[in-house]
Amino acid sequence: MPRGLFITLEGLDGSGKTTQCRRLASWLASRFPGDEPVLTRQPGGTELGDRLRALLLDSRESAIAPMAEMALMFADRAQSIAAIIEPALVEGKIVLCDRFTDSTEAYQGGGRGIGSEVVLALHRLLCDNLQPDLTLLLLPSLETSLERARRRNQRAVEIQGQDENRFEKEQDAFYRRVWEKYREIAAREPHRVALIEGDLSIDAVFEKIVEAVATLLNAHIAV
Ligand code: TMP
Repeated sequence: MPRGLFITLEGLDGSGKTTQCRRLASWLASRFPGDEPVLTRQPGGTELGDRLRALLLDSRESAIAPMAEMALMFADRAQSIAAIIEPALVEGKIVLCDRFTDSTEAYQGGGRGIGSEVVLALHRLLCDNLQPDLTLLLLPSLETSLERARRRNQRAVEIQGQDENRFEKEQDAFYRRVWEKYREIAAREPHRVALIEGDLSIDAVFEKIVEAVATLLNAHIAV
């Protein structure tokens, strides 16, 4: 059986990537009836991962040291690869993953200032250097991303009485470093990363996503 395809979605909080991920899953399901894609996310998606996610995103756990935060992200990822991603790829499935190692490089490497080298070395050691076949990087302008994330966080405070996500308490300078690191990754790996930039409508972003995925599928079928 030919190996499946591994597609990741990346972007800042508020980039709309989770909505697009679900939309892409339905598009793929309608294109390949009876062979639905496997949809997962990081952190989370496994039993261990969901527990790590709760810990990592809990806004009261503000004392997690950057290195500990990065180690937990990788613990989550190693479990996700072993339990979900790799078995599905072996079965020939398409796997859609909402965030992967580019997030660690952008948030911990860029945002927290750990740098890319350590993140990439850990990825080689702990994730067998698994590379996505395609990464859809949604990068609206920094200003738009920040505004959306803040609005979403504000709504969560109003509804649940606490903010949605520890990362959303970060300052603009942190998000600027994350945004810049994402752009650096896209420039470094243009063959893997489809950069979808600008303040586009949800439909316009989806059109670009479908274009990139269709190109990948055609190349895969032609092999
Ligand atoms: P999200 O899944 O709702 O986008 O939220 C996950 C948050 O965790 C988001 O703020 C980005 C952050 N994160 C990291 O800092 N490093 C990582 O490796 C991953 C996967 C997520």
